[in-house]
Amino acid sequence: MKDKKILLGVTGGIAAFKAASLVSGLKKQKAQVKIIMTEGATHFVSPLTFQTLSNNPVHIEQFDQMKNMDVEHIALAKWADIIVVAPATANTIAKINWGIGDNLLTTVLLAKRCPVLIVPAMNTYMLKNEQTQKNLEDLKKKGFLISSTQNDLLACGDVGQGKMLEPSEIIDLIEYQLTEKDLFGKKFVITAGRTEEALDPVRFLSNHSSGKMGFALAKEAFYRGAHVVLIKGPVENKGPKVDKTIDIISTEDMFNAVKEEMKDADVIIKAAAPADYRPKFYQKEKIKKNSEKDMTLLELEKNPDIAKYVGQVKENRVLVGFAAESTNELEYGKNKLASKNMDLIVINNIKSQGAGFKSDTNIASIIDKSGNLEKFDIMSKEDLAKIIIDKVRVLLK
Ligand code: PMT
Repeated sequence: MKDKKILLGVTGGIAAFKAASLVSGLKKQKAQVKIIMTEGATHFVSPLTFQTLSNNPVHIEQFDQMKNMDVEHIALAKWADIIVVAPATANTIAKINWGIGDNLLTTVLLAKRCPVLIVPAMNTYMLKNEQTQKNLEDLKKKGFLISSTQNDLLACGDVGQGKMLEPSEIIDLIEYQLTEKDLFGKKFVITAGRTEEALDPVRFLSNHSSGKMGFALAKEAFYRGAHVVLIKGPVENKGPKVDKTIDIISTEDMFNAVKEEMKDADVIIKAAAPADYRPKFYQKEKIKKNSEKDMTLLELEKNPDIAKYVGQVKENRVLVGFAAESTNELEYGKNKLASKNMDLIVINNIKSQGAGFKSDTNIASIIDKSGNLEKFDIMSKEDLAKIIIDKVRVLLK
């Protein structure tokens, strides 16, 4: 989102206060934000709030033009990479659909030359209103992007659809729209998170993987237009929006899902941390503390090595693996790259602060098939995902 130009139109509804978090979220992602408020919106939030958060003057008056010898509505429409109307009231939605330009925002929208995202927020009956529904349908047909709303208790006391999406969800929609679709037509299978190997109905063997690294990769590939199938272990987070999510529990489940999904895939990324071993015998009833056998029950057997299997049958598919090591990581990583026939391996030392399991950041080294090694400083898992997907794109050419 760095340096992307986002023109935010804020209209007069109670959700206008949430637009303030939207602006600060966009600024955190280093986007440039300019704001137009309707007169109605100024009754809910002070323009000064938006001016301070966006670091730009807020535009309100339609006839306050020609300050810099620029015709303001044309200049703003020309400037924007995307126009986002959030919250969008039923009134403004109707005006946009009917081509009315009676304030600065609706006039700018008449002169638009970039995608427009409309984020409705209103009372559930106003949203269900036949004319509002028709306006939204018409706008969709005209190429406007229309977000959904949330079903919740609304400010007016009614319960139902109409609550504006959360700022983080709106930012995701904006980012998706603004990302170049350079992976269109490619299928990615991405694994994420831990697996669980049951001992009895109560206990299991597992590890600390949260899925964050795999999720960042899935989001990046999906945003860039790839068809993404995410195969995820039983982690807390539900994961990003992708084309298909397959929830699995054990390494065997993950193996079966990968075998099926890789058939027509172009890329397989193994960011998951599958358990290497599972209990040899599953105890149908809870193992009792005083059981005489309890020291011998933990007999383990090997799980399938999914990455190794993919490496053996992959033909011209791209295989990216990870190595989670606590010592000699480069040496172990190189061996895994070769023995599992990977095209790239991403090595993280799980003992380093800010790397590996659970954290939002990672510290990685990447080695390719020719032995080229690149070492990276600490960065967010999202930024590392961009680097990995860029490398995959080069391999796909
Ligand atoms: O999920 P997070 O909390 O964000 O943490 C991220 C991570 C540390 C889990 C991730 O960055 C990572 O390193 N994933 C690989 C963990 C791992 O299992 O490493 P490994 O060195 O044991 O395995 C090597 C490769 O073989 C990996 O690509 C792994 O997915 C794959 N593997 C391992 C075992 C197995 N039975 N089948 C496999 O396919």
